Amino acid sequence: MTTVIKNGTVVTADLSWKADVLIDGGKIVEIGDNLKGDETLDATGCYVMPGGIDPHTHLEMPFMGTYSSDDFDSGTRAALSGGTTMVVDFALPSPGQGLLDALQMWDNKSTRAHCDYSFHMAVTWWGEQVFNEMKTVIEDRGITTFKHFMAYKGALMVQDDEMFASFKRLAELGGIAMVHAENGDVVAELQAKLMAEGNTGPEAHAYSRPPQVEGEAANRAIMIADMAGVPLYIVHVSCEEAHEAIRRARQQGKRVWGEPLIQHLTLDDSEYMNKDWDHAARRVMSPPFRNAKHQESLWAGLMSGSLSVVATDHCAFTTEQKRYGVGDFTKIPNGTGGLEDRMPMLWTHGVATGRLTPEEFVAVTSTNIAKVLNCYPRKGAIRVGSDADIVVWDPEKEKTITAAKQVSAIDYNVFEGHKVKGLPRFTLTRGHVAVLDGELRSREGHGQFVARKGATPTNRALSTWKELTAPRPVERTGIPASGV
Ligand code: URP
Ligand code: ZN
Ligand code: ZN
Ligand code: ZN
Repeated sequence: MTTVIKNGTVVTADLSWKADVLIDGGKIVEIGDNLKGDETLDATGCYVMPGGIDPHTHLEMPFMGTYSSDDFDSGTRAALSGGTTMVVDFALPSPGQGLLDALQMWDNKSTRAHCDYSFHMAVTWWGEQVFNEMKTVIEDRGITTFKHFMAYKGALMVQDDEMFASFKRLAELGGIAMVHAENGDVVAELQAKLMAEGNTGPEAHAYSRPPQVEGEAANRAIMIADMAGVPLYIVHVSCEEAHEAIRRARQQGKRVWGEPLIQHLTLDDSEYMNKDWDHAARRVMSPPFRNAKHQESLWAGLMSGSLSVVATDHCAFTTEQKRYGVGDFTKIPNGTGGLEDRMPMLWTHGVATGRLTPEEFVAVTSTNIAKVLNCYPRKGAIRVGSDADIVVWDPEKEKTITAAKQVSAIDYNVFEGHKVKGLPRFTLTRGHVAVLDGELRSREGHGQFVARKGATPTNRALSTWKELTAPRPVERTGIPASGV
C-alpha cells in the first residue's frame, strides 16, 4: 500500500518547495506534483519535514539508585507524538561491566520501541576489556559514538588519562568522542561544602555546578580530543563558557560540535528558587538551568551555527523518585523530560520568534545530527530513497503543555503551562502513520535499530590532517661526534 502526502510545503535543511511526497515500503519513492497513492494525507497549510532525531535520551536507565521512568515504550510514544521519529539512547556499562554485556541489556529493553533508534556507548571505566570491545562495538554493532562522563565522581566519572586513552582508541577506530563536560572533582567539593553549610535544598544543586565547572571541562575535553586526533561532540551545552570554548575551537578548525537542550534554551535558573520543593527538584538536572545571559548565548549559537543540534537528554523521574533527595540535594536523581515537547517548544520559541528559519529548524532537530551520526540521508532527509520518517507540521495548531495530557509516564512536565503553536498533524515512522490528526496510533516493536558506520568523512579528514602535521624527526646532514 502506498501513501501520498499532498498539498504541503516540503522543508529540508537547505530548501523549501511545494510538492507531494509518495511513500512505498517505508521509503520515500517520489517527490513531485500531482502524485497519487492508495492512502492520502492532506498537508494543506503544513510543512512536510524530516522527522525529528533526538540524539540524547536515557530510557529506563539505572541511575542514582533508581531507573528513569520512561522506557522504550512510553519514551518512543512520547517522541512520536511530538514529531520525533528517531532517538539515540546511551548504553551505560556499570563500572567493571563489559561494553557488549551492557549492550545486551539495551538490546533487550529496546525491543518495545515504537520508532527507530540507535545507541551511543558510554565509557564509564577503562581497561583492556573496554579497549578490545570498542572495536567490536564500532565494527560489528554499528555504534560509533562514545560518551565520557567528566562528572558524577565515584560513579560514572572517568579521569583525564582514561579519557585520553579512550579518545586515542576512537581516533584509531574511526569513532566519535562525546563528553558530559563538568569538572566532577570541583562539583564534589562544592556539594560537600554546601551540605556542611546547611544548603540542602534543590537550589544548592545549581550552586554546586556553576558555569565555570562546565567551561573548564569543555575546554579540557576539546584540547584532549585535539591531541588524540578525534572529533568531539559535547552534550547538553548549557552556558556561554562552554559555548565560547566550542566556538573558538570551531574557528580554529577543530572538529567539535555542541548540543544545547530545549530545556536550557527555554527554562532558567529561577525555577530552583521556587518555594515548592517538588517544583524545584523536578527541574534538577546536570548541568542545571542557567540565567538569560546563557540562554541568549545558546540561541545565538544555533543562529550562527556554532552550536549544531537541539536535544532533550530525556531522563524522566517521578516526583516520588525526586524525593529521594529531601534533606540532601546530592541524592535528587538528575534528569528532566522533554521528548514530547522539544519540537513544538523549539518551533514556538525559535521559528515563531524569528530566531530560526524553518530550514534551520530542520537542520538542528534532524539533519545535522543525522550527518554527525553518519545515518544521513537514510535519516534526516526528504529525498527519494530516504526512510519515510516524516512529520507533517501544522504551524497554526496550538496547545498548552500539561502533564495531564502527556504521553510520558511521569506525573509532571517541566514545561507545564507553556503555550506552543506548531504541532504535528501527522507523524510517520518508516511509512507507518503513528500520529493521525493528533491521535497516537503507534505500534510497540515497530522501531528498528539503526546501525551506523564509523570512519566518517570528518574522521577521515581529521586523520589525514593529523598524519600530515604529526611530529617527525628532523633529517640532519651532519651528526656531531658524541661526548665532544
Ligand atoms: O541530569 C542529567 N543530565 N541526567 C542524565 C544523565 C546525564 O548526565 O546525561
Ligand atoms: Zn550528561
Ligand atoms: Zn544525558
Ligand atoms: Zn514557553
